[in-house]
Amino acid sequence: MTKTLIVTGGAGFIGANFLHLLRRERPDWKLVNLDALTYAGNLENLTELEGHPGYRFVHGDITRPEDIESAFTAARELGGGVSLVHFAAESHVDRSIRSGLPFVQTNVVGTQLLLDAARAHGVERFVHVSTDEVYGSLGESGYFTEETPLAPNSPYSASKAASDMLVRAAVHTHGFPALTTRCSNNYGPYQFPEKLIPLMISKAQDGEPLPVYGDGKNVRDWLYVVDHCEAILAVLERGRVGEVYNIGGHNEYENLAIVRRVLSELGKSEDLIRFVKDRPGHDRRYAIDASKIGRELGWKPRHRFEEALPLTIEWYRTHASWLQRVRNGAYREYLTRQYGG
Ligand code: NAD
Ligand code: TYD
Repeated sequence: MTKTLIVTGGAGFIGANFLHLLRRERPDWKLVNLDALTYAGNLENLTELEGHPGYRFVHGDITRPEDIESAFTAARELGGGVSLVHFAAESHVDRSIRSGLPFVQTNVVGTQLLLDAARAHGVERFVHVSTDEVYGSLGESGYFTEETPLAPNSPYSASKAASDMLVRAAVHTHGFPALTTRCSNNYGPYQFPEKLIPLMISKAQDGEPLPVYGDGKNVRDWLYVVDHCEAILAVLERGRVGEVYNIGGHNEYENLAIVRRVLSELGKSEDLIRFVKDRPGHDRRYAIDASKIGRELGWKPRHRFEEALPLTIEWYRTHASWLQRVRNGAYREYLTRQYGG
């Protein structure tokens, strides 16, 4: 099995958790992290990896072919056959509603450029990390399977669906060794506090109002980020080329229930909840049927929500300076100091 891995978007939430998992579970692997350090990229997520001889950070953008080449050069220097796990994306639905273009640039154009380069360099395997949001919205019942037709509703999910189709086309046309994962909503350490759970933790800690969109009854299927990372590793090592694998935890909650739980864990009053104008085109319910990855690769989530949510809240409490530096922008000063960017 390959020992050198290029990870795109490794300074973001899931990518950073994935790199930490690999350091623990596959300590002999060589790792190259290609990340543009957008607002969502934070090198403070990766301080433990800095200076490690088997780790290289390449500050680069997947929409620039020369930056992708730099990542392959770094991988070649580290030696061994190369595989790639592709996390880099614009990932926030609300931002995509305000402006869709960056989503097309990174998620669609960037993915195609990465596929072209990966094919030219003969990568052994390419895992494309996608989302359940490509399937659109469910009613009260039912689950997304890998056969559910794609019906994305936001510019974010539309751009991810487009990238999934480009990966599919590369497999079909060129026999390219790609695999695609589609996961439900994640939570855990290092998540940027614009997403529901870290935003609510951050606001509740500061006694600020908690904005709940619409009636608060939209449902998401929450998965602890480490479980997602373990599933990606299983797909990378043992998945069947050309296949799509859904990943989820059968852990559905209405948004309001999540917000109430965060408040209760932090000992704060529900008076902080504010119902605000709904998100345009807000998907009602996501729920994943993850039986295929269970059956084929033996993966199942190891963390229960009842334990992992308090763990996550505790992480944000004990990493108050990480959160503060993200909220006040100081994490960007670090980038300027290190890379002049
Ligand atoms: P994130 O927004 O926290 O991180 C994205 C990372 O990609 C950042 O480090 C950013 O700097 C980098 N990046 C963005 N544009 C880039 C570019 N043009 N070139 C290089 N790097 C770039 O995202 P996340 O929540 O960690 O999500 C990672 C992946 O997982 C995404 O592809 C997302 O669609 C998918 N996903 C996320 C969730 C979730 O709940 N967060 C669920 C399912 C799937
Ligand atoms: P989010 O974390 O943005 O993930 P996604 O839209 O990709 O599922 O939002 C999760 C749910 O929480 C979604 O139904 C929108 C809702 N939400 C709020 O009610 N208030 C907020 O401030 C945010 C950011 C999200």
